[in-house]
Amino acid sequence: MKDHYLSELIDNYDALKYSLLEAQTFSQEHYGFPPIYYKIMETDAKRVGAFQKAFAKYDFTDKVVCEAGVGTLALTQHYLPYVKKAYLIENNPELRDFIEDFIKKGGWQDKVEVIYGDAITLELPEQVDYIVGELMSIYCANEYQVQIFRHLRKFLKPDGKLLPERIVNVVQLVYADFEKGHKHYPINFTRHLPEQLSTQSIVNTIDLYKVSDVDIEVSLIIHPVMTGMCNSIYMHSLVQVAEDCNFTGTDSLMPPTVCKLEEPVELKQGSPVTLNCKFSYGTSLDESMFWVG
Ligand SMILES: C[S@@+](CC[C@H](N)C(=O)[O-])C[C@H]1O[C@@H](n2cnc3c(N)ncnc32)[C@H](O)[C@@H]1O
Repeated sequence: MKDHYLSELIDNYDALKYSLLEAQTFSQEHYGFPPIYYKIMETDAKRVGAFQKAFAKYDFTDKVVCEAGVGTLALTQHYLPYVKKAYLIENNPELRDFIEDFIKKGGWQDKVEVIYGDAITLELPEQVDYIVGELMSIYCANEYQVQIFRHLRKFLKPDGKLLPERIVNVVQLVYADFEKGHKHYPINFTRHLPEQLSTQSIVNTIDLYKVSDVDIEVSLIIHPVMTGMCNSIYMHSLVQVAEDCNFTGTDSLMPPTVCKLEEPVELKQGSPVTLNCKFSYGTSLDESMFWVG
C-alpha cells in the first residue's frame, strides 16, 4: 500500500512543484486561504508542536490571551481549556460556523469572545498577558504578521509575551529552475532544491516587540563557496516562538523558498559579491527585488 503512495508521488513530483504555492496563495474566492491550506497547517505536528512547547513553557492558567488569525483553532485548542479569557480574531467569514461549533463543543462560550474583523485595526477591551498569532510567510513578505503584532502589542501587559517573538531571515545565493510565469516558489520536495553556491547569511532579524518599519532595504556581502551561474536566492526564516521553542520552516509554514534575482550573475568561488534586498512586509514576493552588484 505504501509503495503505491510513493509510486504515485514519484509520478507527480513535477506536477506538484507549484502546488504548495497555489495552496498558500491568498484567494479572493475563499476570503483568504483555500480549505486545503488549513488541512496542511492542522496536520503539521512540527508547526503546531513549536507553539505547544511555548504554551507549556509559559503558564497560561487563568491568563487573558488574544490570538490573531485563529483559522481552524489548530493552535488555540492547546491553551483554551486553561485560560481565564480569550479574544479570538479571524477575518475569514467562511470559518465562522466552524469556529462557533468548536467553541460550543468545548464548552468555552463563557470565556471566549470571537471577533470577526481585521486584527490590524481592531481594539481590545483590556490589556492581555499573551498575544498569539501565526500569520507568517517567508520573510513576512506576504502576510501581515509584522503589522498585526505592531498594532496588537499596544494591548500587551508590561510583562506580557508575544508568541512568536523573533524571526531571523537568512539567504543563500543559488541557481534554480523556474517555469515560465514564476518568480518564486516554495520547495515542496528536495529534488526541487536549488544548486547552492554560498552558505547562509542573515538578511535581517525581526524583533516583534519593537519592529516598526515595514519596508526593508539591506545590502550584504556574500562569499560564494562554489563557482557557477546564480539566478536566484534561497530564502529561509527561522522563528523563535519563545526562547528554546523554535520553528525553522516546513511545507505548512514558511517553507524555504527560491526567488529570482533581477539579473543572473556569474559567481566565482572566493570572490565576494554584494547582495541587495528590497521588500516590504505584508505585500508580495512578486513585488520584492533582489540583485547582485
Ligand atoms: C496562516 S493561518 C493560521 C491559522 C491558525 N492560527 C493556525 O495556526 O492553524 C492565518 C489565519 O489568519 C487569518 N488572517 C489573516 N489576516 C488577518 C487579519 N488581518 N485579521 C484577522 N485574521 C487574519 C487568515 O484568514 C487565516 O485563517
